[in-house]
Order: sequence, then structure tokens, then C-alpha cells
Amino acid sequence: MNQKVEDVKRQIDRFLVETGTHLEEFRLQFLSKKSDLQQLLGEIKSVLPEFRKEFGQEVNELKQYAQQLFDAYKKRLEEYAMPHISDIDVTRPSTLFNTGSLHPVSLIMNEVYDIFEKIGFSIVQGSDIEDDWHVFSALNFPQEHPARDMQDTFFVNVNPEFLLRTHTSSLQVRTMENCLPPIRVICPGRVYRNETITARSHCIFHQVEGLYISQEVSFADMKQVLLFFAKEMFGLETKTRLRPSYFPFTEPSAEMDIECKICRGKGCNVCKHSGWVEILGCGMVDPNVLDNCGINSKEYSGYAFGLGIERMAMLKFKINDIRLYFENDLRFLSQF
Ligand code: DAH
Repeated sequence: MNQKVEDVKRQIDRFLVETGTHLEEFRLQFLSKKSDLQQLLGEIKSVLPEFRKEFGQEVNELKQYAQQLFDAYKKRLEEYAMPHISDIDVTRPSTLFNTGSLHPVSLIMNEVYDIFEKIGFSIVQGSDIEDDWHVFSALNFPQEHPARDMQDTFFVNVNPEFLLRTHTSSLQVRTMENCLPPIRVICPGRVYRNETITARSHCIFHQVEGLYISQEVSFADMKQVLLFFAKEMFGLETKTRLRPSYFPFTEPSAEMDIECKICRGKGCNVCKHSGWVEILGCGMVDPNVLDNCGINSKEYSGYAFGLGIERMAMLKFKINDIRLYFENDLRFLSQF
């Protein structure tokens, strides 16, 4: 290639075009009337005849090459061109998009955390898959207890020693096994039971377990804490009652009801026309359970309770069908 042609080609190849100004400089330098290339074109006729054809061809090819590059740079700049700043109306309202909202179960969970945090409880979590010891045996469930039955519990097929926890009480066992008293924890989680799905029952729901272990803990201590919880959660004027009950892991045991918020105690299908709705089970931790978990029952005592989250959300948000929580229907979810 002719030396002059080669020099200009090198300049073309090295020229960086990133802006409109660069593009114009490129055009002036290589494609305009006064450009180096144009000068080479003018020189063709003065080249000796035996070299003229080859030189002419090289110069013309280089001109085409420069033109192609120019067109490509121009196209690219047009494609990426930003509107000029003054073309943007910064006062124009932006497009609104929905950010979503928290699920009613999360809303209630968060409230439960806040309430118990105020009185010094910390949060403990654990796995949904548990073993027989933590869900049943350590908690005093006799071997033939119906809760262990296939009809109530989802067992893991490959090893029936493992199961989906049927309650978060398994976490009180784990906490007692791993911590020294005094213990003051709440344990939230999802639980599973092999139940027919209806408006009132589901195979998945959420609980928060509570556990307090120290010296000389009394039933009255428990009652005060649960009363405080009910009033914080449902309002100061909320009526509550404690009914005697039975759980294998607490003695004595009780259940706490609050006056039905949906019918205000008059009776409706949510409270089964009794005017009261059970929100938790509770009791003094059975000494056997303390000993099973490595805590000396002669030295320590404590109380435990288990809250049903869906039930409380039903009362707070006046939801009358438990299935709504799991259907992911936006018409339902967007109300929270
Ligand atoms: N685990 C019980 C259930 O799933 C709830 C419960 C009752 C938890 C009494 C407790 C308790 O800690 O003391 O129905």
C-alpha cells in the first residue's frame, strides 16, 4: 500500500469517536473537501500512469472505508443519544408502582415480637423438620398419644423418626437443652398438621411459643404477662378469661380466650356462637419436661404458652376464612 494512504488509514483507525463533537472532527479530518483524503484523491491524476490505477483504487477504497466508519459511528451515537437535559420535564409526576404490603400473618408476628421485646423476651428460631424427641417425647407425650398418629402428623417418608413439627413447643425443648436459666424467649414458626382444610382449620399455620424459666416462677407471673400481652395486642378494654385445660407438657394447664372481636361477644360463626375465642394455650412447665431438657426441676420452675397467629389475625382484621391466608389472592392481600 502506498505510504501516504497507509498513514491516513492509520490515523482513521486511531481516531476515537465517542461524542457528536468527535464525529464532526472525524468528518472534517477525513471526509470534507479540505481533508487529507480529499487531498489524496486530488493527487491521483498527477501520479505516473503505471502506478495511477493501483493508487486510485487504494485511495478510493480508503474513502469508502472512512465513509462506512463515519456512518457506523453516527448510527451508534444516535442510538445511545440521551435527550438533551432541557428536554426532560423534572416536575412531571413519575409513574407510580405498587410496592406490595406485608402479609397479615407477618403483621401480627411483628406485633407479637414488639410486645414481648418490651418485657425482655428474645427470639429463638428453629427448623420446620424436627425429630420425635423434640416434638413429642421430651414434652411428655405418651407413646400412644393421638397427636403422634399418622392422621395428625406429617412424617418424613424415608425416616419416620423425622417429622414436620406440629407445634413450636419443640423449640422450648431445644432452648432448655442449650441455654442456662434464667430463660425468657419467644419462638415463632410455621407448624404442620394433617388436617382437612376448611374455613376454620388448615394443614399449615403459625405459632409463637413463649418460655420463661427461673427460680420460684408462679402461675400469677404467667397470668400477668398474658394479660399484658392481650391488652397490648387487642386494646386495654379487651375482656379475657383463663380456662383450665390439659397439655402433656404443662401442669397446671390453661387456655386463654378473648371476647370475640367480630361479634363483640354476641356470638357468630368465628366464635362458634360462644362470644369467646381461644388465642393461646399455657401452663406451668411440667417438672418432667424440665428434667428431660437438663434443667433441675427442684431448683427451677417456669411457664410456657403457645399463641395461634392466624386466629389472632382473624380477630384483628375480621377475617372469617383461614384459607385466605394461603391463597395468595391479591384482592385479599392488597387490603393490608
Ligand atoms: N403446643 C400447643 C399446641 O400446639 C400450644 C401450647 C399449649 C403451648 C400450652 C404451650 C403451652 O407452651 O404451655 O396446641
